Amino acid sequence: MASYDLVVIGTGPGGYVCAIRAAQLGMKVAVVEKNATLGGTCLNVGCMPSKALLHASEMFEEAAHSFAKMGVSVSAPKLDLPAMMDFKQQGIDGNVKGVEFLMKKNKIDVLKGTAKIISAGKVEVSGDGKSETVETKNIVIATGSDIARLKGIDIDEKRIVSSTGALSLEKVPSSLLIVGAGVIGLELGSVWHRLGAKVTVVEFLDRILPGMDGEVAKQFQRILEKQGFAFRLGAKVTAVDTSGKTLQVKVEPAAGGAAATIEADVVLVCIGRVPYTEGLGLKEAGVALDNRGRVEIDTHFSTNVKGIYAIGDVVAGPMLAHKAEDEGVACAEIIAGQAGHVNYDVIPGVVYTTPEVSSVGKTEEDLKQAGVAYTVGKFPFTANGRSKVNQTTDGFVKVLADAKTDRVLGVHIVGREAGEMIHEACVLMEFGGSAEDLARTCHAHPTRSEAIKEAALAVGKRAIHM
Ligand code: FAD
Ligand code: NAI
Repeated sequence: MASYDLVVIGTGPGGYVCAIRAAQLGMKVAVVEKNATLGGTCLNVGCMPSKALLHASEMFEEAAHSFAKMGVSVSAPKLDLPAMMDFKQQGIDGNVKGVEFLMKKNKIDVLKGTAKIISAGKVEVSGDGKSETVETKNIVIATGSDIARLKGIDIDEKRIVSSTGALSLEKVPSSLLIVGAGVIGLELGSVWHRLGAKVTVVEFLDRILPGMDGEVAKQFQRILEKQGFAFRLGAKVTAVDTSGKTLQVKVEPAAGGAAATIEADVVLVCIGRVPYTEGLGLKEAGVALDNRGRVEIDTHFSTNVKGIYAIGDVVAGPMLAHKAEDEGVACAEIIAGQAGHVNYDVIPGVVYTTPEVSSVGKTEEDLKQAGVAYTVGKFPFTANGRSKVNQTTDGFVKVLADAKTDRVLGVHIVGREAGEMIHEACVLMEFGGSAEDLARTCHAHPTRSEAIKEAALAVGKRAIHM
């Protein structure tokens, strides 16, 4: 029987990164993956394909609407959707090969099949009609998450799709109805809207992007509306009639009341994701789950069963690839006897639309609820030189600092490249920096990042360009 120091179940960003760090620390490691390819949700049907389509569709939109005003004259771009899907697949394939290479480089065994935990120290791997059991000192569960379903609405991945189907539509729907104004709805809605679909988003709450700063979400909603998105907030989808040529979607006010019917070619259901633990044998192995079906862990990623750990989407916390990766590293370090740690106060979140939305730390709503006295500095991209010359002035930066200590507690950005810009705030916050530190840091001119410095200056009411 093969024997390991560590068997990691799942090769998403949590699992494969955990395996690499453990191998670096001298452990004999195997990963188990039930999918045909490595890389998990993120690489195969999540972060990467969505970003490839966001990039390609943005180029299409720019060619159609922005080139002419810059004096670049091209004939109206034509969409070749199969070629765009090939572009997406090439990106996925390249990254899958990259993960395979990293497994080889770090001498990590890749066991293809579905893993079931027999007990602490024993994992059964089944696939292709075969099954083998391996012995291991430690097990890390990194099995990720699955789509949340809407009761009574069957996802066929053709006309009623989850994010997976929405990443592979065979033609541009003339109308797309999206259930859920979260990250997936707004990103994939942007893709299809740019390619020509009429997009309507139905959201249960009275706002988009719950969890993000309210002011940021409000301004972002206005920008999306200007682009052509239609929102039905405070509403829920209760049924979809699939009998006709177009789907008849029944939409009701969230609080109850008269239903309306909206026609759509395609319905995208994206109302969140749920932890995935099917067939893992957790009950038999005695591993405890919390009331939302997530694997319960302590601050050291350990489950209630000694030698079994869990990380990533299958445990509590934001369902983000970089959170899973950082947990993977910390968990491997803890297993090796080191002091692995994740700072959950400084995990950035990015919505990769145009403009992008990014955020780290506390929102104004968080601070109000916690009764923390804070100061606010804001700076709009309309007053940022680089944004003005590029004519991409949508959005603003908001810096929230502790009113007494000036320590930065949160930074929120709507604007082009916001996803790249947020990281200076992350580093600052990791080091417990103040708005004054940010304001006194020299920023290259002309950059969009100067808006962050100006927002920090605005905390002390001394922004220069406003
Ligand atoms: P996963 O990536 O879900 O990987 C789990 C793996 O475990 C899978 O490969 C699965 O096949 C395998 N597995 C499960 N059970 C077993 C078993 N019993 N035996 C063997 N293998 C098993 N996050 C971001 O940070 N940025 C983004 O831009 C982003 N975009 C996204 C876009 C979409 C459309 C979606 C759906 C998600 C996106 N996410 C994004 C979220 C991100 O994909 C997840 O947070 C991330 O993949 C979680 O990583 P993980 O390692 O925990 O699990
Ligand atoms: P989400 O949690 O971001 O948004 C779901 C939305 O659906 C919420 O606004 C919620 O209020 C709404 N909702 C729930 N039930 C509803 C109902 N019955 N009717 C109408 N609206 C309803 O979830 P989403 O967009 O599905 O994404 C899943 C996960 O994937 C997220 O946790 C996110 O972290 C991750 N992800 C991250 C990305 C990124 O980092 N850029 C991109 C895509 C996904």
